[in-house]
Amino acid sequence: MRMLGMIAAAMLHLALLHGGAAQAQVLPDGPVLAAADMRGGQDLSGEWTYSIDPYRDGMAGFHGGAAGTGHRRYDDVDVEAARRADPLALYEYDMDRAPRATLPSSWLTHAPEMRHYQGLVWYQRRFDVAPGEGERQFLRFGAVNYAAEVWLNGQFLGRHEGGFTPFAFEVTGLLRAEGNRLVLGVDSIRDDADVPPPVTDWETYGGITRPVSLIEVPQTYVDDAWLRLTNDGTIAFDIALDGPQSAGATVDLAIRGLGVELRLRADDAGRLAGEIAAPANLQLWQPGKPQLYDVSVRIGDDIWRDRVGFRTIATRGSQVLLNGQPVFLRGISLHEEELGDSPARNMTPQAARALLAIVKDDLNGNFVRLAHYPHGDAMVRAADELGLLVWSEIPVYWRIAWEDTDVLAHARTMLAENILRDRNRASIVIWSVGNETPVSEARNAFMAQLVADTRSLDPQRLVSAALLTERDDSGERPMMRLVDPLAEHLDVLAVNTYNGWYGPDRPADVPRIGWDVPLGRPLVFSELGAGAQPGLFAGEGVEPIKFTEEYQAAYYRNTLEMAEGIPTLAGLSPWILKDFRSPRRQLPDVQDGWNRKGLIGPLGERKLAFAVLADWYAERRGD
Ligand code: GCU
Repeated sequence: MRMLGMIAAAMLHLALLHGGAAQAQVLPDGPVLAAADMRGGQDLSGEWTYSIDPYRDGMAGFHGGAAGTGHRRYDDVDVEAARRADPLALYEYDMDRAPRATLPSSWLTHAPEMRHYQGLVWYQRRFDVAPGEGERQFLRFGAVNYAAEVWLNGQFLGRHEGGFTPFAFEVTGLLRAEGNRLVLGVDSIRDDADVPPPVTDWETYGGITRPVSLIEVPQTYVDDAWLRLTNDGTIAFDIALDGPQSAGATVDLAIRGLGVELRLRADDAGRLAGEIAAPANLQLWQPGKPQLYDVSVRIGDDIWRDRVGFRTIATRGSQVLLNGQPVFLRGISLHEEELGDSPARNMTPQAARALLAIVKDDLNGNFVRLAHYPHGDAMVRAADELGLLVWSEIPVYWRIAWEDTDVLAHARTMLAENILRDRNRASIVIWSVGNETPVSEARNAFMAQLVADTRSLDPQRLVSAALLTERDDSGERPMMRLVDPLAEHLDVLAVNTYNGWYGPDRPADVPRIGWDVPLGRPLVFSELGAGAQPGLFAGEGVEPIKFTEEYQAAYYRNTLEMAEGIPTLAGLSPWILKDFRSPRRQLPDVQDGWNRKGLIGPLGERKLAFAVLADWYAERRGD
């Protein structure tokens, strides 16, 4: 059934795609390539070579000038042939004969001898390609941690900073049929002007940690398309075309299974926006029934596809409303680290589903906090398919250089990269602009700008940030007070609480701790947690010490009892599902470079506290 007739002219409104924000967005330079993972293309995962370069010889000579011929790993040269052709040729690298690695993978795993290496590593991938006549080609990188400089066949394509968001370069006309030479200089070192800064509480997995693909599209293609169910009961869409035939182009939008087939027209900028009444047969996406629809947008020879769920998210007083109904967020936090004793930060769809299935099926959860940075496409798609609500976050973490305008611009771009990649993911209900950032004037302004950007790019989802609280011991019981000025900008108040682990309290002291938080808005415990070495027990009749499983379980029982006393609590995402690597955690035979606050160990070993939380959630499945 064609919906064309049903569109009230008044409802079709043409608007610039990126929100027409009050303040100019700091958008990514390159293309959006929304739903790039659905476009297929040539997967360049697989065998790469790599060359370690701790003194950055490939970037600059030791006198500070340009890098010399014999050091430029990115030159388009067959080093072996050049050396044989000229006895005087001097090369001190050879990317074609360098050690091999299977990517995506952090180097700390594909090369165990580089376990603690942080710095510059060169990667090369040779590949053949048969570019389609008149087509356009893009190299798309799922993520490279932390900074990447990219060359193709000796030509510099560009630089990207930020270890957790995608980027792409157009390479139309730069490819050859055989032996293309793609070279990346990957630098894992961060300084105080980076996001995150050098000090975090998680391992820096340097390297190419998500898929690289060569994507081919027609001259004019759908670069971005965003569809969502609005709180007004309409399906709204924003579409952006790119290419010579964009202006005034005819665009066909279809949602299979809903009988939606719209013929639309782009404006002079190749963009369009509109909305239609949601069809009566629309099945809402929700945990337990994560209905996804095949959506397509066609322009000429290009068909853009995605699988989209339609749901609404809002707050009412201290409640979070999913599809108009109150929902209690039965969550857990995750780092992007797969199960196993030597994670590579290669989160494949299988690895993502393995972790999320534990949350959904064993922990009785409906919510995951993907900390502290945007996780990969595979994880958020798995959440869409399994029906888990998601808190998505950028790594504005701890001590950011708040006064530095370049750092703010970088954080804004990273936020936009995250939102533009994922705003079709129904599972994502909360955008978080940061974690545990200490209050100051500069920080408040910085974070308020990020909140404004979020609302401009995506007015519908909820905005939050994990905040710090102040402890007041002046009364008859300890009071935790949320006095952070950022709170007034947030839809969902979120705090990290560790009483009973950090600070003077024993677990048994925790239930009497009071909370003084602004009323009238939902509160989420974005973190709570305690450590335990899997298999370390205090034993019968012995008072458990920290890092025993009994201590962790007692911490959870008491903290959950405290939580029950907070009327505005709308959910929690305890820290953390699985033990994860952190160089800050070096207690011998207990931590050994791992943060042990997981409810499961690296191999999935269940700790006593797992059942404590799972049972608590089981009682709240109907909430
Ligand atoms: C902090 C921080 C986490 C950290 C955790 C911990 O709240 O947000 O990144 O890992 O506490 O101390 O284990």
